[in-house]
Amino acid sequence: MQFTIASIATLFAAIAAASPAVLQERQAPSVTATFYRSVGCNRGPTDVITPPSPDVLVQDTAPCHNITIPETVGCTELTASTLTRQIRVYDQPNCPEVGNTHFWTYPEGSNNKFNQNVKSYRFL
Ligand SMILES: *[C@@H]1O[C@H](CO)[C@@H](O)[C@H](O)[C@H]1NC(C)=O
Repeated sequence: MQFTIASIATLFAAIAAASPAVLQERQAPSVTATFYRSVGCNRGPTDVITPPSPDVLVQDTAPCHNITIPETVGCTELTASTLTRQIRVYDQPNCPEVGNTHFWTYPEGSNNKFNQNVKSYRFL
């Protein structure tokens, strides 16, 4: 009997130790990016670049994330957003905002498509 109670206590301690990490992982806001070869998101492209699609972009405070995609992206689609902050997506690596660069900012929670290459992103 005593052994059984000790075992249950150990089990509960193990569950308690594991739970916060599991909960945090489930709750981390994210958006799913799908990359297409075709230009023209509004024409319903089906030529998905896999990998890295579908690429789950998890919200964080890092200054910049590069995305390496082996081909030129014609259309990027963001879906299943649970973001609580805006995401800014760049057509150059290193998230540059001056010089030869284009970038787009999307509101938290939005699902969007845009006809552009993607090489880096960050959360505002
Ligand atoms: C992002 O890519 C650029 C260009 O390839 C590279 O110089 C830079 O080190 C990369 N940054 C990170 C954080 O990997």
